Amino acid sequence: MTANPTFETVLVRTDGPVGIITLNRPKQLNALNDQLMDELGAALAALDADDAIGCIVLTGSDKAFAAGADIAAMARYTFSDVFGSEYITRNWEALRRVRKPVIAAVAGYALGGGCEVAMMCDIVIAADNAKFGQPEVKIGVIPGAGGTQRLPRAIGKAKAMDLVLTGRTIDAEQAERWGLVSRVVPLASLMDEALATAHAIAALPRLAVLAAKEAVNRAFEGTLSDGLMYERRLFHAMFATEDQKEGMAAFLEKRAAQFRNR
Ligand code: CAA
Repeated sequence: MTANPTFETVLVRTDGPVGIITLNRPKQLNALNDQLMDELGAALAALDADDAIGCIVLTGSDKAFAAGADIAAMARYTFSDVFGSEYITRNWEALRRVRKPVIAAVAGYALGGGCEVAMMCDIVIAADNAKFGQPEVKIGVIPGAGGTQRLPRAIGKAKAMDLVLTGRTIDAEQAERWGLVSRVVPLASLMDEALATAHAIAALPRLAVLAAKEAVNRAFEGTLSDGLMYERRLFHAMFATEDQKEGMAAFLEKRAAQFRNR
């Protein structure tokens, strides 16, 4: 494991082919300010560009994944600040641009922007103490980083309205039943589970993993016909890779595949 000293609000390390980013404003329950979102964007871009990395884990502390956008920073903003300079929301698209899989390992509060960041990740593994919600209405705003769009797609309109209009929180078990998270594990095994999953993904043929993520994401963006065609073409494209030849040959020869990410 190596440490990256350049950031203050996120910690970056690697564990073999897995990049691990830890949100690091513990006193503010990892409230998401512009510095943190800028540093998170830079850390994600660096790991995404690193050929040695096959999967990224994003986590917070045991008490908070992130308790939302930084209210102390936001409180003084005017409309022209947020609309003109995109304070608070300017770097929130960084997660969307990451091509490698990102696993959110969520313990404690994932509220407001914290819930939205978790939803931007590809797999959400929640500790049994995790709490999810979009409490923005309680402070006179609405979700601003995808909550009103990704939540209905994740859990349906009725349940999304229940959360967004009341601002109430739900626990990890409820979030799993509703389809907001992929798995719930005891807090003590959260990072082990996330890292084991990340290592398993990183060991798979890289091009197929990138294509699979792209295809699933397509399901959220357009019509079924477009998505099915997109998936089919990506499936066809996999036949141009060396790992497809190797993966299928290894299966037929009953041996372990040697993938080269080509
Ligand atoms: N922004 C700034 N600071 C925050 C914060 C936030 N979102 N959430 C918590 N903090 C700070 C608190 O102000 C407190 O700081 P001090 O010790 O200096 O007073 C510290 O973190 C600890 O918080 P609490 O004392 O409140 O801890 P708690 O355990 O009693 O409560 C909590 C935890 C329920 C998460 C509560 O802190 C809370 O409700 N936080 C705000 C949640 C929220 O409204 N999030 C949505 C923000 S808006 C948004 O995210 C917009 C968007 O979509 C982009």
